Amino acid sequence: PFVVTESCVACKHTDCVDVCPMDCFVEGPNFVAIDPEGCIDCSVCVPECPVDAIVNATDVTEAQRPYIALNAQFARDPAWRPITSRKPPLPDHARWQAVSPKRHLIEL
Ligand code: SF4
Ligand code: F3S
Repeated sequence: PFVVTESCVACKHTDCVDVCPMDCFVEGPNFVAIDPEGCIDCSVCVPECPVDAIVNATDVTEAQRPYIALNAQFARDPAWRPITSRKPPLPDHARWQAVSPKRHLIEL
C-alpha cells in the first residue's frame, strides 16, 4: 500500500482524498492516513499532494518507516473517520511545512 508520511503532519492539504477510487483515507485532527486494507496501489493520490507526503510503503526512507505502522494504526482507530472530500488545509500549514521532525505532533 501507499502511506502518508511526515510532511502531511500539521499541514493536511487533503487534495489526496478527492482522487482515491477506494476511499481509503481516514482523518485525524492534523494528519490523514491510508487504510492499507483498502489501498490498491493505483498511485493516483501521489501527485495530488503538494508536499509529497504519499509514498509507496516499499520505497520509504528509514525516517519514514514508522509511518507504515502509523497509517495502519490510525486506519483501525474508530476515532479516525473516513475523509473523501477535500477541505481547506490547516491554517498554519505554511509554517509547519518545512519543520522536521514533527511526528510527535500528530494529534490523536
Ligand atoms: Fe487510494 Fe490509490 Fe492512493 Fe491507495 S494509491 S490511497 S488506492 S489513491
Ligand atoms: Fe496530507 Fe498531502 Fe493529503 S498534506 S492530506 S497527504 S494532500
